[in-house]
Amino acid sequence: MTDEGKRYVDLADELNAPRYAVVAGEMDRIWWRLSELECEEINGLLTAIDEVERTGKAIHQRTRQRTMNDQTNRSKPVTFKSEIREVGRVAFPAYQGTRIMMMPFHLHDVAGTLPDEIARWRVVIDEIVAMGPVHRGTAYLTIDEAAISRGETHRRPGLHVDGVGPRGDAGGWGGGGGYGSNGMLMTSTHVGCAAWDQTFEGWPGPDGDCAHLDAQIRDDRACVLLQPGVVYHCGPMTVHEAVPMTEDCRRSFVRVSMPSNAPWYEGYTENPTGVLPAGPIHPRRVAQMAYRP
Ligand SMILES: [Fe+2]
Repeated sequence: MTDEGKRYVDLADELNAPRYAVVAGEMDRIWWRLSELECEEINGLLTAIDEVERTGKAIHQRTRQRTMNDQTNRSKPVTFKSEIREVGRVAFPAYQGTRIMMMPFHLHDVAGTLPDEIARWRVVIDEIVAMGPVHRGTAYLTIDEAAISRGETHRRPGLHVDGVGPRGDAGGWGGGGGYGSNGMLMTSTHVGCAAWDQTFEGWPGPDGDCAHLDAQIRDDRACVLLQPGVVYHCGPMTVHEAVPMTEDCRRSFVRVSMPSNAPWYEGYTENPTGVLPAGPIHPRRVAQMAYRP
């Protein structure tokens, strides 16, 4: 059971309300299947229940109004925008097989917060950061250099969005904005990723899995095959997937995830200069980290 689910069950215990505990436990098990809107609605209902249980008084007017609004909105289909656009070009340093994953650093002090071990990347990272939508705050750097054989994929295969948690949550229980509302910048030395520029109906599943949305991407015009050396800005909910290499290669991939308070997971790369992630640190995602997320 999640910490949040346990909190509600404990609360039910305190209130001597066993039925509430059962409901909270059930809800915890299905949470990841709900849309962001549905999560918000349930959060509103839980707040209302807390108030009734604690005070015995009727639901506060503001909470009731919010719940009514949510119920009105619920009849609309849930959609999200998957966006990608080209913002510039960079030249890569020579391949060295470096692997850094989601290392926190400061956008406003790249030189001061990139470790000496990756000094050769500073110019490129500076250039990429300059192409981004924000230039202050704690961002997260991924550099993944690997030898990949023809027909294999370098990074995470299958349709997905980055930055969505194990329960389909974007930043916390009940949603919170994806991995940075300002999205991410990414580039690579070889074609190895496809992304979609379109609206999707529905919501990503656990760990951002979007396989169930596959039927919505029949229009090839919405598909962007990311080109070597081109820097792309993706939104916080950009659907993408790794595509197989057409030849044996040594591929370099770079991603700068924009500042956010989304969870950071144990096992990601710590910054030896001491920069810490801005959001909470969660336990390692074993399944997620079996491949290159
Ligand atoms: Fe990804």
